[in-house]
Amino acid sequence: MCGIVAYVGDNEAYPILIKGLKRLEYRGYDSSGIALINNNNLNLYKKQGKVIELEKFTEGKDIVSTIGIGHTRWATHGAPNDINAHPHYSKSKNLAIIHNGIIENYASLKKELIQRGHEFESDTDTEVLIHLIEDIQYVAKVDLVEAVRIALNEVIGAYAIVIISKDNPNVMIAAKKSSPLVIGVGHHGEYFVASDATPIVEYTKNVVYLDDEQIAVIEKGKDLRLINIKNQEITPYIQELEIQLETIEKGGYEHFMLKEIYEQPTSIKNSMRGRLDVNKGIVSLGGIRDYEQKIMNANRIIIVACGTSWHAGLVGEYLFEDLTRIPVEVEYASEFRYRNPIINENDVIIAISQSGETADTLAAIKLAKEKGATIIGICNVVGSTISRETHCGSYTHAGPEIGVASTKAFTAQVTVLTLMALSIGYKKGAISDSKYRLLLTELDAIPGKVEQMLKSDIQVKYISEIFKDSSNFLYLGRGYNFPVALEGALKLKEISYIHAEGYPAAEMKHGPIALIDEDMPLVVVATKHGNYEKVVSNIEEVKARSGKIIAIVTEGDTEVKAIADHIIEIPATEDCLSPLLTSIPMQLLSYHIAVMRGCNVDQPRNLAKSVTVE
Ligand code: M6R
Repeated sequence: MCGIVAYVGDNEAYPILIKGLKRLEYRGYDSSGIALINNNNLNLYKKQGKVIELEKFTEGKDIVSTIGIGHTRWATHGAPNDINAHPHYSKSKNLAIIHNGIIENYASLKKELIQRGHEFESDTDTEVLIHLIEDIQYVAKVDLVEAVRIALNEVIGAYAIVIISKDNPNVMIAAKKSSPLVIGVGHHGEYFVASDATPIVEYTKNVVYLDDEQIAVIEKGKDLRLINIKNQEITPYIQELEIQLETIEKGGYEHFMLKEIYEQPTSIKNSMRGRLDVNKGIVSLGGIRDYEQKIMNANRIIIVACGTSWHAGLVGEYLFEDLTRIPVEVEYASEFRYRNPIINENDVIIAISQSGETADTLAAIKLAKEKGATIIGICNVVGSTISRETHCGSYTHAGPEIGVASTKAFTAQVTVLTLMALSIGYKKGAISDSKYRLLLTELDAIPGKVEQMLKSDIQVKYISEIFKDSSNFLYLGRGYNFPVALEGALKLKEISYIHAEGYPAAEMKHGPIALIDEDMPLVVVATKHGNYEKVVSNIEEVKARSGKIIAIVTEGDTEVKAIADHIIEIPATEDCLSPLLTSIPMQLLSYHIAVMRGCNVDQPRNLAKSVTVE
């Protein structure tokens, strides 16, 4: 949550900051603000709402500066108003700070500072931190870097911060713990700082990812200096960014979400690239190779994740139990970390996260690591915190996902889980050679079938028009498609604000059937797999109570077609691969309904793409 961008160099900071904030808006859009230094003045401009509001606010103002910091906020402490927007001043107004994270002990620090005469304008924990830093500077008579270091030893919590000082308009100080921060090393001594690489990539591909408890002293024209909070010097490790600019732009689509839905034939292919060789019958995931034996011998696998990634984890449970015969548990990271779970050295944890920054998933990993388990990561963002905290893992390679509603990340996660389960299952002798070969061939064909699925978009749009004003939706699926039902309901909820619930189809008669009437649309996956006949019976039960049925069926199906109000066909595939196809019309349905209801599809209310708070 919250996006940070900063610049120092010879160019104008303002356009770089505004453009960067727009790229980071997916991380929060309650308010935004910038601080610029010019003519020995440190000026703050901040505004509630999106970055566009900030742009309007700064029209005609003095924004000329070659150093600046910018922030887009997802509110944690304090209402989303102008005053609580970042940046925040120190007491003397000589310093300004932007912050992503939470200072947990801010209340006690604030109390002490108030006793020493500090007054606060905002309700934020961030303002407390910058007052504390300046207080240390004066009391301990130390320079700003040392004051930051001492302060960071006093705070408890998570932070990614950037500070600028009126007294030194060529220097920025950045630091991080548990929230991400990347420094771009530009040409001719210029530097960029950001929460992720998207605001940086068009200026430089050379970046340094800060590690926890590191402080960067970033001075125009000088080498980057890194220390840790114990005051040890660290040699910066400069890496080359792999992302391309086009991947973070809309490319002619109306919304990022639609672009990302349409990218799925490619993103799924990219998740398999270099890992699946159908002709040779090989599945090879380099990132987990050294740990494969450990996984094969695991007592059990525990999958931890949140939101959509948790749904992918549920598909993973079916895949791993089916194909490897290793018992699997799927846990909400937020529950797992707080319930004193039983974990031992023979357990393997798979942590799934698109962003690789989700606070609860990260905490779950740390807990399991302490207890000696082996941790595998499945992340999309290269270099993210989770990908660095795990023992091994596989990137999903879906490319940047900007829309808050996860789409291509989900199918890429399911693809990687499928590859992992196939590789382990085959090596373990848990699946036959013929089944293995069949699944490899079918998996290889999935990108083409997704392409075909996307042609149903016109039909899904037509169905969306009919149901766009419904107040509730029910999603049903069985087996591999139960998690898809959950995911379909989540997609609709988060972007169209329609109440929706996902259920295993057979559970309907244990309660939710009471909700069914002529106003209740039901989205049901009824593909020709294991429980087909049972799902058909569930559909009949809904029909008998006048529910409206939108069924996702296998191409050529006639039985469900005869009873459903609307059908969407998917190409035939194996049961365990069907979520990669059935999830597509659900994504499109939620997208079109949200657009028709006038909702902000890419930035739904109250949400942020990367949930770095608990
Ligand atoms: O980055 P992560 O995959 O760890 O994020 C987990 C959830 O916050 C995320 O999937 C969320 O549920 C999405 N908005 C769903 O579309």
